[in-house]
Formats: sequence, C-alpha cells, structure tokens
Amino acid sequence: MLSLPLAPDAELTSLEPWQADEFAEHIDRHREHLEPWIPLAHTVTDTESARELLQRYAERQANGAGRLLGIRQHGELVGAILFPQFDPAAGNCELGVWLAPHAQGHGLITKAAQLMIDWAFEVRGMHRIEWITMPANERSKAVAKRLGMTLDGVMRESYLFGGRRHDAEIWSLLVTDPRPWN
Ligand SMILES: CC(C)(COP(=O)(O)OP(=O)(O)OC[C@H]1O[C@@H](n2cnc3c(N)ncnc32)[C@H](O)[C@@H]1OP(=O)(O)O)[C@@H](O)C(=O)NCCC(=O)NCCS
Repeated sequence: MLSLPLAPDAELTSLEPWQADEFAEHIDRHREHLEPWIPLAHTVTDTESARELLQRYAERQANGAGRLLGIRQHGELVGAILFPQFDPAAGNCELGVWLAPHAQGHGLITKAAQLMIDWAFEVRGMHRIEWITMPANERSKAVAKRLGMTLDGVMRESYLFGGRRHDAEIWSLLVTDPRPWN
C-alpha cells in the first residue's frame, strides 16, 4: 500500500473502494465537525455511498483526472486530501482536505498539501492550484495562507450543499509563485 510519511506518527496513504466500511465509519464519527464545511459529509452516509465516492475517485485517478488519499495517525484514518478537479490539459486543479478534530493542530494537512502541490506542479505540469473555502472557515484559510496562496476573490452564493447556498472564497497558488516550504 502507498505510504508517505507526514510526521513520525502519521502518513499519507492510498484509500480505495475496498476500504469503504472504514471510510464510512470515519465520516460518520466526525460528521458533526465536517458538515458545516465539506459537501461530502452530507452525501457519504453509509458504506454504499462511501464505496461510490471511493470508486469515483479510483476512476478519476485511473483517468489522470483526480485523486484522493487518506491520512493516518497511529494507523487510524483521521482525514484525507484530494483533487476534486484535476485538468492536466488546462493546467488547473483544486485541492480539498479534512481532518478529524483530534488530528488537527499538528501540521498534517500543511505537510500533505505540500506533497500534493509539489507533485501537481513538478510531476504533472499543473499551472494553477485552487483552494475553495467558506469565508468563516478560519482553519482552512490559515492553511491556504501557510501554503503561500493568494485570495483571488469571493464567488457569491456559489457553493450549494446541505440545502443552502454559501459564499465561497477562492484561493490559488501558481507554479510561478514562491512556495514557502521550498
Ligand atoms: C481545515 C483543516 C483541515 C485544518 O486542519 P489543521 O490541523 O488546522 O491544519 P494543519 O494540519 O496544517 O495544522 C496546522 C496547525 O498545526 C500547527 N503545526 C504544528 N506543527 C506544524 C508544522 N510542522 N507545520 C505547520 N503547522 C504546524 C500549526 O501551528 C497550526 O496550529 P494552530 O491550529 O494552533 O494554529 C481542519 O480544521 C478541518 O478538517 N476542518 C473541517 C473540514 C474543513 O474545513 N476542510 C477544509 C474545507 S475548505
């Protein structure tokens, strides 16, 4: 199984359809924490919907059009990082993330995002990486800033989930921008 170290006790790993039970359980356990911020916390409600999402990402990965990786701490699935949009022809992609509450505050997402960004720019030749977040999501915005991203603007009421429309801030990093970790 793919495994890249994020910290002495944490790793970035593959997350595949056969792991749907564990994925569904992870989302269910942390639903309250995730629901205000990420649409999939509203749509992954059981093993079947978890499997569908992981299958969709397996197909996107096979087609070079997206990717989803798990984050484990002490072996426990505590979060994920993904490219929900990945368009090599246009050179644009979007990065998304989440972590369980008890795994926050250790830089795991910052480190995972650095690895994904370096791979997208240097291996896949991407030009622009987007980070989309709600204006009230301070922890998410702190990650975008830590990664050296720039706030491009607000897409008003563009983000439809949980039966409501939300404003979405769009942050970006270009291949020509300085990367604070390099
Ligand atoms: C957004 C989210 C992933 C951020 O998680 P996070 O743990 O704050 O982010 P990181 O893993 O990068 O950790 C940063 C924290 O670790 C600390 N840290 C420790 N070691 C660090 C290191 N080597 N590098 C960077 N930060 C480090 C930072 O100081 C920061 O701490 P602070 O919260 O006290 O300021 C998380 O809050 C979450 O899942 N929220 C719900 C879902 C969500 O909003 N997803 C994003 C939608 S856009």
